Amino acid sequence: MVYLRYYVPFPFLGLFLTIRSYIAGRARGILTLSNSPCSEITAPTSPFVFAQVVFDKDGTLGDCMPALRAWCSEMTKAVRRRCDDTDGISAAHADRIVSDFHSSIGWNSTSNDLLPSAPLSSRTWAEVVDISATGLRDSGLDGVDRDEVLRWHRDLGLVDAEDPPLIDDMAGLFEHIRRLGILISICTSDDRASTDACMTRWNVRHLVDFSICGDEVDARGGGKPSPGPLWELCRLAGGISPRECMVVGDTTSDAEMGQRSGAGFVVGVLTGSGTAEQLIRSGADIVLPDVGYLRYLFLPQFCLR
Ligand SMILES: *[C@@H]1O[C@H](CO)[C@@H](O)[C@H](O)[C@H]1NC(C)=O
Repeated sequence: MVYLRYYVPFPFLGLFLTIRSYIAGRARGILTLSNSPCSEITAPTSPFVFAQVVFDKDGTLGDCMPALRAWCSEMTKAVRRRCDDTDGISAAHADRIVSDFHSSIGWNSTSNDLLPSAPLSSRTWAEVVDISATGLRDSGLDGVDRDEVLRWHRDLGLVDAEDPPLIDDMAGLFEHIRRLGILISICTSDDRASTDACMTRWNVRHLVDFSICGDEVDARGGGKPSPGPLWELCRLAGGISPRECMVVGDTTSDAEMGQRSGAGFVVGVLTGSGTAEQLIRSGADIVLPDVGYLRYLFLPQFCLR
């Protein structure tokens, strides 16, 4: 028994068949790798019917790391400037404030990278601003409020509109899924403006049926991992059931939203900040190296719509 990890030579036939039977059986979390002949594969007892695939954006469809590095670097400068401008903050205290700021958002300043499933990668910008402001005040930077941090953030503009796509042929994948009669939606913690900019740049905007962004959900707890965004996408899709939805994402927030909303199937991908273990623990039914591997899950017999 092993997790499906990216070092597994995939798709070779045995694994391919295993994944198919796995989806039918929904044995959460663990894949049995085998080379069993077809006849030994359990036939699906009740076919799994997808109506909608709900993709996360950052770390799932697009590589947000260059943008997040730029964001952290600029925000850290703003924090340092604010420390300099505040009376009674020693250099050592300023270092501690910056270090606490990084911890609060889940940033490793040594590796210049996200900590696994960091708030910075999984929460909306409004929530990240809140978390940052609270963290800065708690570590002794008096007088900093949400509005000031929001101003620093706003001054950066659309930090992630330039994110490169994580797979080569995203449009091809989306077309493949749509040909099976399945809707495509995006559920992101990022804002509307940069989400639209990314979809346009990735040439998939015309292939996305519905999307819901971080600035369109209640700033206090309405975003992922709350089940609300998925339920809203079900409503937009004409009142389909969460069980007819597949949720695909790279963080525990995505997997948790899938689990809490009652999504039919939850896919974790390893192109972002979540580890396989975290994703499985927070509700992923399967973990794939990247979204390109979804093609192998969309076999006609599981798409009976
Ligand atoms: C941050 O990155 C460094 C260098 O890669 C690593 O040694 C360290 O363990 C990381 N810190 C945390 C908290 O993960």
